[in-house]
Amino acid sequence: MPSKEEFVVTPYEVRGRIDYARLQEQFGTQALSPELLDRLRRAAGGELHPLLTRGVYFSHRDLDRLLAGLEAGRPFFLYSGRGPSGPLHTSHLLPFDLCRWFQERFHAPMYLQITDDEKFWVRGGLSRADTYRWGMENLADLLAIGFDPARTRVFFDSRSIGVMYPLAEEVARKVNFSTVRAVFGFSASQNIGAIFYTALQSVPCFWPSWYAGREIPCLIPCGIDQDPHFRVTRDLAEGLGYPKPALVHSVMLPGLLGERVMSTSGDQKDNAIFLDDPPAEVERKVGNAFTGGRATVEEQRRLGAVPEVCSVWALWRGKFASSEAEFQEVTQGCRSGALLCGECKSRLVPRVQSFLAQHAERKAAARDRVEGLILEGSLRPDGSGPVVRGDVPLP
Ligand code: TRP
Repeated sequence: MPSKEEFVVTPYEVRGRIDYARLQEQFGTQALSPELLDRLRRAAGGELHPLLTRGVYFSHRDLDRLLAGLEAGRPFFLYSGRGPSGPLHTSHLLPFDLCRWFQERFHAPMYLQITDDEKFWVRGGLSRADTYRWGMENLADLLAIGFDPARTRVFFDSRSIGVMYPLAEEVARKVNFSTVRAVFGFSASQNIGAIFYTALQSVPCFWPSWYAGREIPCLIPCGIDQDPHFRVTRDLAEGLGYPKPALVHSVMLPGLLGERVMSTSGDQKDNAIFLDDPPAEVERKVGNAFTGGRATVEEQRRLGAVPEVCSVWALWRGKFASSEAEFQEVTQGCRSGALLCGECKSRLVPRVQSFLAQHAERKAAARDRVEGLILEGSLRPDGSGPVVRGDVPLP
C-alpha cells in the first residue's frame, strides 16, 4: 500500500490521494493557463465550458499548437472513448460533455471509441457478451448527450476492427514490450490482449488522417489517467507520418463515499450516481455522501466547510451548477459556513433527479441512432475499401 503521500495514476489503477501539480510534472504535461484558456475562449466565440473555467480540466498537451493551427485555418476532429465495464455514472460524462461543447463550437467531427475488447481483457469478472452489451448500452447514454449524428462516428472495437486493423498493425509494430510494461506497470503475467490493446486506443488519433490521406489534427478530452496511452501514441506519431494528438486532461472527481475516485466496480455502487438511478436512490446516496463539513453545526457556522474534499461539491462543480453565479454562491456559502451540508444536499437532490429523468428520455430517443453510427467495413492497408455505414465525417 502506498503511504498517504504516494499515489498511482495509470489507465488501469488509480489510488492514493492525487497531487495534481506533481502528477503534471511526472507526466510532463502543461497547465491549462489563464492565457491559453483566453485564447480558447476567443476561438470559441467568447465563452468557455464550465468544466474549463472551474478547473475540472486542468492540464493539456499541445492545445496551444492546435489553436495556432485553427487560427491558421486548420480545423481538427475530436476523439474520446469509454471502456464499457458497467453502467455510466455522472463522472463518466466529463469528457463527453466537453466534446459536445467543442463539437458545437467548432463544428468538429467526433470519433467515439467503445473498447469492449479492452474491458474483456482487463476486467476478470466480465464475459465477452457482458462488455459487448455494456458497450451498446453506454453508447446510447453517450449519444443522448446530443452529439450531431452527421458529424459523429463510433469505433466499437469488436465490430469496427475491420476498418481499424491495418492502422493498428502499423502502430503495433512501433510499440515494444518494455515500453508497455513501463508505461502501464504490467507484470509478466499480464495477458497479451491488454499488452496489445494500447495500439487500438491509438488508432482513432490517426485514423481520419490515414483515411483522408492528409494531416488532420486531433483533440482528445480525457481523464488524466488515460494520458499514458497517448504518450505512447505521441511518441510514435511522427514516425508514422501523422500529427501528434493534442489533449486536455481532467482531474478524477472523488466518489460519494470519500476520497476514492468514482468507480463502477464491485461493491462501489454507493460511490457514484449512476445515470439509471431511480429518484429515491439519488436521495439516499446524496444524503449519505461524504462532505467537507464540520462535526457540529456550530463549528461549521464558525469555521466554514471545505469544498475541495467534498463529494457533493464535486457534483455541483462537474455537472449540476447551472451557472457560474450559482457555482460561486454554493462554493462561497460552503466555505463561509452560511450553507450547511444538509441544505446543500437537499438543493442538489432535485437537480440530479430532474437531470436523470431528462437523460432517460434522451437515451430512449438515442437508441435508434446507435447502429447507424458504428463504423464497420474492411479497409485495406492503403486506406481504401468499403466503410459500410455512412460517410466518414472529416473536417
Ligand atoms: N481506455 C478507456 C477506458 O478504459 C477508453 C478509451 C478509449 C478512451 N479511447 C479513449 C478514453 C480515448 C479517453 C480517450 O475507459
